[in-house]
Formats: sequence, C-alpha cells, structure tokens
Amino acid sequence: MRNEMKSLQLKTPYFLIDENKLIKNLEIAKKLKELSGVKLVLALKCFSTWGVFDIIKPYLDGTTSSSPFEVKLGHEMFGGETHAYSVGYSEDDVHEVVDICDKLIFNSQSQLIAYHHLVEGKASLGLRLNPGVSYAKQDLANPARQFSRLGVHADNIDPKVFALLDGVMIHMNCENKDVDVFLRLLDTVSDKFGTYFNQLKWVSLGGGVFFTWPGYDVQKLARALRAFGARHTVQLYLEPGEAIITNTTDLVVTVVDIVENEIKTAILDSATEAHRLDTLLYNEPASIVESSNNGEYTYVMGSCSCLAGDQFCVASFDTQLNIGQRLHITDSAGYTMVKLNWFNGIRMPSIYCQRENGNIQLLNSFHYQDFKRTLSQWSVS
Ligand SMILES: Cc1ncc(COP(=O)(O)O)c(C=O)c1O
Repeated sequence: MRNEMKSLQLKTPYFLIDENKLIKNLEIAKKLKELSGVKLVLALKCFSTWGVFDIIKPYLDGTTSSSPFEVKLGHEMFGGETHAYSVGYSEDDVHEVVDICDKLIFNSQSQLIAYHHLVEGKASLGLRLNPGVSYAKQDLANPARQFSRLGVHADNIDPKVFALLDGVMIHMNCENKDVDVFLRLLDTVSDKFGTYFNQLKWVSLGGGVFFTWPGYDVQKLARALRAFGARHTVQLYLEPGEAIITNTTDLVVTVVDIVENEIKTAILDSATEAHRLDTLLYNEPASIVESSNNGEYTYVMGSCSCLAGDQFCVASFDTQLNIGQRLHITDSAGYTMVKLNWFNGIRMPSIYCQRENGNIQLLNSFHYQDFKRTLSQWSVS
C-alpha cells in the first residue's frame, strides 16, 4: 500500500523497472551459466538503462554492442567482457573501440581483411557468420531473410580468414521460446561450420534464446550447450537482451480523454511511435495490467500522437475507464527505452526503478530543454 501511494505521486508517463522481477530472470541466467558453462553478455541494443547495471552485473559476464557508443557504455558502466560488434565499422570506429573491447567482431570478410591489423594484439578477433537458417516470426527481424547483409554465408567463406580469427558470432534467434527448435538450429550450425569451429577459441550464439520464458527447459538447453562447447572445444557465449528484462517493466500512463467513433478510444499520455516503437513496427499489441479478458467495456488504447493508426492495443475492462485513471502497459523494457524519440514533442517517460525493499528511485527524467537540444543547439546567423 505504501508503495502504491508513492507511485501514485509520480508524473506519468514513466517506466517502472521492478528489481524483484529482474532478479528472478537473472537467477535463471545464473542457473543456465552454472549448468552449461556458457558465458552471457547483455545485448545493449535491447536494454541499456545503465542506472540498473549494478543489479545485473553480478549475474552476467559483460556486454555486447552494435556501435562504438554502445561499446563505450558497456566498458564504462558495466565492465567485465566487452564485445564490440558492428554491421559496418569505419577505420575511425575501429580505433575508437579497439583499446576498450575484449572482442572485436566484424560483419564481413572485407572488413576483417581491411582492419584486422589494427586489432591484432589488442582484442580477440571475431567474424559474424550467417547459417542461412533462423527462428524469427517476423521477416523484418530475420537475420536469414533473403539478401541478408548480416554475417558471412557458408558458400562465401574464404577458409584462409580463419587463420586470423579467434572466434565467430552467429545470431539466428528472435524470441525463440522452443528449446527443441533451438537445438535443431544448433545442429545445422555444427554441420555447416563445425570444421571451422575446431580452429577457434570461442563461439557466440547470439541472442533471442528466451530461456526465462515460463516453462522453458533450461536444463535441456544447458546440456546441449555444454555438449556443443565440448564437441568443438570452444568457449560458448549467448548474447541475451530480451530474456534478461522480459516482464520486468511497466510503462505507466494516464487516460487523458475518451473519444467515441463507433468504438470508444481512451487517449493516453504516451504514444507507441515515440515510447514503444516495436508495438507499431512489428504490429504486436501491448497488454494492459488492469484489463480483463471478459470485461464488459472495450476501448482502443489510443496514443496521443498525430499518427492515425498509432494505438497500443484494444482492451476490455470490468468497469468503465475514467479520465485521470492510470494504466500499466506490461513488458515494456526491451527495445523501448533504447528507442525513445521526440516525435510530436511528446513528453518522454521518466525512468524509475522499484527496489527490492519497495523504494522507488528515479533514474532519468526528461524536460522541454532536452527536447529542444536534440533539435538544434545553435541558430543560423
Ligand atoms: C547480434 C545480436 N545479438 C544479440 C541480440 C539480442 O537479441 P534478444 O534481445 O532477442 O535476446 C540481437 C538482437 O537483434 C542481435 O542482433
């Protein structure tokens, strides 16, 4: 009750990260590490709210990145092992990251050939491979989609490059909740690239393995990973993002209006396009804590942006919604805070963490000056 009263004082919109829920996921990650011998590096592209890294650090081995800025953040704020991957490095980028990363992973053989001399002796060298198979429900997020630019396909490998390499990274899953499907992918990877693996020290199997999903058979996954690592005599890595922060965070919003045009729409003080972009990008409706499957009162959960189709979901409730009422949009941590934008100038959600003891701590808040500064810092003279 005390916490409820505290959170009611917070101005919406805001993200509320729940430390207890985060630790629940992290304990599963810890178990997976112990059982499998795999190392886990947090994918910063999914979640990089460094205000809670102190909670995550004791459980994971480090971070992986998609750009030099993420490498810097991982190195500065997380520590442990820093993996530096980018789809395309400039020479300046390589100079920027090479002294602060442990592994530098190129996306193509051309980049490896061009820049390996800058990395040798400083960081472990890696290359992304593309097995041509994957588990991803949406083509947009499918690394094995037609004409994919992500990693080197088996047919295009020049075996000579393996003399330069310590390891490879293969990312081929997106929200894969089925351990058996993952094991079949592992077999394909072994068949395609196994002879090369035997020359390497490490293999990263990327992200997208949803081992914190309720009912996921962590033991089976662990056994398979341990066997794979032993067969190829490599240190295995996974790069979880979503699995670490799934179901830890609500986006808390207020109903500011209710309009009616055949169906009732509740206008919320947030927008998917600005604050929960993947809802729109992947057409995946959000879920509202307060809703009820058989509720009598149905509303579109409408955004306050000008985009006509911008809505969180359609939800039903046992009682009518009221203006001023707060709603909690669940599972709002992954690929949200890293994608916040100022479209329509909508107030960006503050970010809070509810600690294990119930206290709520502010991690970030945004103001008009932040909005203004991202647009220009200087006028033409
Ligand atoms: C190379 C790589 N590693 C890790 C991840 C993290 O994936 P997830 O958040 O689904 O675990 C991604 C996601 O796109 C990725 O591209």
